[in-house]
Amino acid sequence: MSHATISQSISIVHPISLSHGKNAEVWDTTGKRYIDFVGGIGVLNLGHCHPGVVEAIREQATKLTHYAFNAAPHAPYLELMERISAFIPVGYPVSGMLTNSGAEAAENALKIVRGATGRTVVIAFDGAFHGRTLATLNLNGKVAPYKQKVGVLPGPVYHLPYPSADNGVTCAEALKAMDRLFSVEIDVSDVACFIIEPVQGEGGFLALDIEFAQALRRFCDTNNIPLIADEIQSGFGRTGQRFAFSRLGIEPDLILLGKSIAGGVPLGAVVGRKPLLDNLPKGGLGGTYSGNPIACAGALATLDAMTDAHLKTWGSQQEEAITRRYHAWRTQGLCAYLGRMTGVGAMRGIELVNADGTPASKQLTQLLELARDAGLLLMPSGKSRHIIRLLAPLTIEPAVLEEGLDILEACLRQLA
Ligand SMILES: Cc1ncc(COP(=O)(O)O)c(C=O)c1O
Repeated sequence: MSHATISQSISIVHPISLSHGKNAEVWDTTGKRYIDFVGGIGVLNLGHCHPGVVEAIREQATKLTHYAFNAAPHAPYLELMERISAFIPVGYPVSGMLTNSGAEAAENALKIVRGATGRTVVIAFDGAFHGRTLATLNLNGKVAPYKQKVGVLPGPVYHLPYPSADNGVTCAEALKAMDRLFSVEIDVSDVACFIIEPVQGEGGFLALDIEFAQALRRFCDTNNIPLIADEIQSGFGRTGQRFAFSRLGIEPDLILLGKSIAGGVPLGAVVGRKPLLDNLPKGGLGGTYSGNPIACAGALATLDAMTDAHLKTWGSQQEEAITRRYHAWRTQGLCAYLGRMTGVGAMRGIELVNADGTPASKQLTQLLELARDAGLLLMPSGKSRHIIRLLAPLTIEPAVLEEGLDILEACLRQLA
């Protein structure tokens, strides 16, 4: 089909036209089958057309397809917020609001912390990704392509190095950069929030250093600065737990949700400490579609399926399969470009590097094409687009997962 009616500023990783999907498999309009290791970029932790989600959407569509919550509240929104509050593993009472997307959740979080603190400075991290809207662009720790040609962005925003065993940046280095920031660039009393991904998604599936996370938590407590965790990609079971911040032993003050929250229906949320969330004037938060009843029904069915036992089993099965195969490939010397494996749980990245350690971005592009031709959809990540990010549904059948990894192995072997 022609793309003439589509903006050429949308970059398309796989130039195919999808028709339908079932759990971890999708088919294009020519009938070709693909194993899906992209999952709609982390949206389909429960797979394509999860029966519980489909049934909930279908049933809701016969009852109430839409109402703007600010005009008149409806049961699915109220029920979902209660379920989400119970699902967020923190010791304080959780409240929040629903949005249409992840970026909209991040946007609203910026407004919420401005309202709560009376301050405006945001501290984000190198390699971060928080969205494509005007204010979230500036939070991203990557210029090309997001910040190009759009002029002056809303600020002020400062970035710190993101410490992780996966990128070699240490906790001490990040803390030193923080010291410098507050002695050279800005006064700590002007800071409205820190925003951080517990595992960076777009940045290359880098798991945050635990010592740094705890030092950052203490710093925020001492200076009365809200700490926002962006769990849009790492949440809802991706790392084998409900949310990736649990691994860090900290409680964020606000948490951003999106992607796999509703099994494929557009929905996001900002949740956290109630005293932070109640400061903007009435009408300061909301939106026509945010918390649409059909999206809420999808999210309620998602939460029904995401028991802790399921998340643990799914996460560990996928992690075991990926890490076993990766280590075998390393031992065999399968591919000269095979670099480090990054991430935690089932949120795994595989780096491609040249002999001198520089990113092998060209080979990753080649791999995406080889794999697609062979029936496997993959997604790149990392500043240099040299890290494969593995986001297969958590519900993928073990045989389909192995089949996908077999294709990946065969394609890695062919890289020139
Ligand atoms: C960590 C993170 N935050 C925010 C976003 C933006 O979400 P959305 O694309 O739903 O606006 C993304 C999307 O990839 C993300 O991975």
